[in-house]
Amino acid sequence: TGNSSFVVVANRLPVDEVRSPEGTTWRRSPGGLVTALQPVLAQHKGTWVGWTGGITKAGRPAPDPFEVDGMELCPLPLSADEMERYYEGFSNSSLWPLYHDAVEPPVYKRRWWEEYRKVNQRFADATAKVAAQGATVWVQDYQLQLVPAMLREQRPDLRIGFFLHIPFPPVELFMQLPRRAEVLKGLLGADLVGFQRPLGAHNFLQLTRHVLGLRPRGDSVELPDGRTVLAGAFPISIDFVEMERLAQSEEVRQRAAEIREELGRPAAIILGVDRLDYTKGIERRLKIFRELLAEKRLTVPGAVMVQVATPSRERIEQYQALRVKVEREVGRINGEYGRVGEPAVHYLHQSYNRAELAALYLAADVMMVTPLRDGMNLVAKEYVAARADNGGALVLSEFAGAAAELRQAFLCNPHDLDGVKELLMRAVKIEAGDAARRMRAMRRYLRAHDVQAWAESFLTALDRTGRPA
Ligand code: UDP
Ligand code: G6P
Repeated sequence: TGNSSFVVVANRLPVDEVRSPEGTTWRRSPGGLVTALQPVLAQHKGTWVGWTGGITKAGRPAPDPFEVDGMELCPLPLSADEMERYYEGFSNSSLWPLYHDAVEPPVYKRRWWEEYRKVNQRFADATAKVAAQGATVWVQDYQLQLVPAMLREQRPDLRIGFFLHIPFPPVELFMQLPRRAEVLKGLLGADLVGFQRPLGAHNFLQLTRHVLGLRPRGDSVELPDGRTVLAGAFPISIDFVEMERLAQSEEVRQRAAEIREELGRPAAIILGVDRLDYTKGIERRLKIFRELLAEKRLTVPGAVMVQVATPSRERIEQYQALRVKVEREVGRINGEYGRVGEPAVHYLHQSYNRAELAALYLAADVMMVTPLRDGMNLVAKEYVAARADNGGALVLSEFAGAAAELRQAFLCNPHDLDGVKELLMRAVKIEAGDAARRMRAMRRYLRAHDVQAWAESFLTALDRTGRPA
């Protein structure tokens, strides 16, 4: 056993390794999981076990643990085969699309599963080494669903929680998954399995009946060995105060003014910030903007769109195909409606730091968060946190977890293009009083339901589960 009493296990560390001739540096890694967990771990002074982002030759030993912001990071390297079959294959070509309502068809390959199992075992082994006797271990997300059971096998003394950051699919969809029984048994190694929405917990418990013949009761299920596993909803959030402060800093406010200036001081800046992922609905959003320009309900340069599309999972075919489609649409819109020095869409296929994102949030009149399916969507919450001025309007898909909480947003069905167009026009034309009323209500909610509250409610529930014998 090791000496960490609190361990987070996630596919990714909060930083990515960047290798250059001058040596190795570390850069914050992408996605909402890192955004949410980084402040939690920094506060709890825990250990984080995860992948370093790059490819390491098979068989090479793991780099030594190191410290960042009071967190101990334990790097776990992946080989080229592991990355291809475990990360790009089973995790992101089978599970990711299946759990997101199969908005792209999931692909299943048998050798991917084998690698998924092996890499999950490596994560479990590495965690078993660093966790102290009786430690709390918190396993994160769809890439590591087998870790709870594998860990319990070696270390029955641990208290194990699992949290799924993405949606858990309806029973009928989950039933497609080859190895569905193994996946469920993996999750049942935890004392507490957490989901973004109550429906996720419900689906999970129903599946233990359907697939494993267990008898879930209420919010828990008893296993043949007598152990009880609890399932529940814990909607994740952001460090509200940190984003609020950042957005109010002099530097960010100046940068926001500069962005408005650089865009030609348009009446309406419409903003999108997403990883370039097919679940995010970026194509449809662009199409909506194009149609509104064609109908002259919006005109350039009075209205401009800024779309940050952060590079993601770039070696996977569906992601490459999406990039081609998005960039073709951007080219088409700019070709038809832009002028020299006045593009209609500012498309940024880049990764931005938090200060620049905060400045964009402040500069934007309308934030469009229109995923076809999303576990939560922290960008929507960040936009609200950044708007201490109570300005701006949020157009938010009903298919994002955040829609259950941000009820004062302009809630839309992203499949209904005409419906979204109407809502976007209402958001563009919103009166300051109405905007402020909505923003104030959402800010009040998020201030109370921040990521610290999320972590506390999960860890308290985990702590209450029965101590292992
Ligand atoms: N993000 C970032 N730089 C970028 C784009 C996004 O730091 O260029 C952050 C963003 O601020 C948010 C997270 O990445 O905290 C995305 O989380 P979200 O839940 O919206 O989506 P996910 O990427 O996890 O699907
Ligand atoms: C989502 C997932 C995370 C993942 C992130 C970025 O937020 O829930 O588990 O880390 O996207 O994706 P990536 O594949 O780059 O880690």
